[in-house]
Amino acid sequence: MNILFIGDIVGKIGRETVARVLPEIKRDHKIDLVIANAENSAHGAGITGDTIKELEEAGVNFFTTGDHAFDNKKHPGIFDEHDNIIRPANYSRRAPGRGYAVVTVKDKKILIISLIGRVFMSGNHECPFHKLDEILANTDLLDKKLSGIIIDIHAETTSEKINMGHYAAGRVSAVLGTHTHIMTADNKILSGGTAYITDAGMVGAAEESLGIAKEGTLKTFLTQIKQPHVIPEKGLAIFNSVLIVINSKNYQAKTIKPITKFINIK
Ligand SMILES: [Fe+2]
Ligand SMILES: [Fe+2]
Repeated sequence: MNILFIGDIVGKIGRETVARVLPEIKRDHKIDLVIANAENSAHGAGITGDTIKELEEAGVNFFTTGDHAFDNKKHPGIFDEHDNIIRPANYSRRAPGRGYAVVTVKDKKILIISLIGRVFMSGNHECPFHKLDEILANTDLLDKKLSGIIIDIHAETTSEKINMGHYAAGRVSAVLGTHTHIMTADNKILSGGTAYITDAGMVGAAEESLGIAKEGTLKTFLTQIKQPHVIPEKGLAIFNSVLIVINSKNYQAKTIKPITKFINIK
């Protein structure tokens, strides 16, 4: 099974880049399932029904999120209304939505789990490591005869993510990092056939600051006064993703390789 995982999609330019780039990648690599982190897809902050619809039409099947999951207040019920969007499982139990879901692809069931880190992250979340144990011990899920398990670990530090990789190794098909918006060059298969990358990167304005206009972010650093985030809508855009090939008979990943494209959005 060929799964494409796309890093954080940032704003309109990110959505447009996905629409322009994804169909060809799906065709060329015979992709069965496309998962994307959508936490910044609605103008950099959160998600809306319209932005999710746009990305679905572009070919994305399933959405994970992160610390910006609930930033957009225009569509508060979105996590409960859509069964293909999840928020981090170790968020407050009282937060809307679910932290994991099972999707069916070609008669095979894939469990997708969203977790958020705790080191240098805002919020007071439950332990993502223990939350993972709790989810994997859920017998209802095991009864579904899963063919693969994919984890999005949304975290700031490389150490928390690689340790999540080692903790889950041999128990899941892939541990894929998000949040930093910078793709790392450490894609590998861990022991027990678990695909891993510390960060899958982003989709959005390529020559700015993590998808945000650099004039404002630089001024924030120089003045120590937080400037509003502006997202450029045109210019060079980057598309970061990883392709994971899974043996659905035993959960194990055979390969993980980055697929990065650049495109000019006018
Ligand atoms: Fe984030
Ligand atoms: Fe992000």
